[in-house]
Amino acid sequence: MSEATATAAKPEMVTFTIDGKTVTAPRGESVLKVAGDNGIRIPHLCYHDAVEPYGACRLCLVEVTSTSHGRKRTKISTSCNHPALDGIEVVTQSKRIRRNRRMVLELLMGRVPNSPQLQALAAEYGLAEEEVRFKKSERECILCGLCVQVCRDLVGVDALGFVGRGVNKEARAPFGEPSKECIGCGACVIACPVDCIKMEESATRRRIVRWDRELPMKICDECGYPFMPTFQALHYKKTKGMSLDDFKICPDCRPARQ
Ligand code: FES
Repeated sequence: MSEATATAAKPEMVTFTIDGKTVTAPRGESVLKVAGDNGIRIPHLCYHDAVEPYGACRLCLVEVTSTSHGRKRTKISTSCNHPALDGIEVVTQSKRIRRNRRMVLELLMGRVPNSPQLQALAAEYGLAEEEVRFKKSERECILCGLCVQVCRDLVGVDALGFVGRGVNKEARAPFGEPSKECIGCGACVIACPVDCIKMEESATRRRIVRWDRELPMKICDECGYPFMPTFQALHYKKTKGMSLDDFKICPDCRPARQ
C-alpha cells in the first residue's frame, strides 16, 4: 500500500467536549458511542452499534453547542445519530435535558407501562407510575425498530417490518401472519431493549413467540444438544455457500474436535 493510500484510509480525528471532558474521536462517529467509550453514560434504548442509528426512542437527548461565524448556538439533539464534530460542546445532564428525557419516559411508560427496563429508567428520573398522564396501554413494544433493523441489516433476512400507523403501529411479520422468512436465529430476541420478544426452546424445537415462528432444531452430533434451527443452517448454506456438514456439531463441541 502506498503512503498516500495509507494516509487516506486514516479517519479524520476531531476533538470536542462532553460534560466538560475533552474527547477525541473519528469525525462523524456517534456522540452516544464516544460518550460511552469515555465512561459517560447517556440513557438509550434504540441504539445498537451494529446497526445504523434510527433515533426512535428519543431518550439519548443531549444539548449540543456549536460555534458558527463567532456565534454560539445550542440545540437539543439525539446523541445516537449526532456526529462527532470538531469543537462542539455536549452536555448530557442539565435541567432541560432531564426534563425532556422525563417527558420521553412518560410517553414510553404510557405505551409500555409494565416494562421493568422502563420502570427502572422512570425511577431514575423521578417519574412515579401515577404521574404518567397518558392513557396506559397493555403493549410491550416501544417501536424502537431494533428487531427490524437487526433482522434486515445484520442477519440479512428482512423477515420483519412496521405495519399500521399512529397508535396502531406495530413491528411484526408482513400481513400480521406467522413469519415465513424468519430463520429463528434469535438476533431480534437479543437486540430488543425491553425484552418483549420471547423465545421458547424444547429438546427439538425453537419458537420465537412474538412472530409465532416455530422451527425444528439441529441436534449436535457430539453432545446431543439442540443448538440452531435447521432453517438457519439452510439460510447460511444458501447465502454464504456453506455446507450443511458445517452445522453437524455445536459451537461448544467444535473446539474439542480441533
Ligand atoms: Fe438515540 Fe434511541 S438511542 S433515539
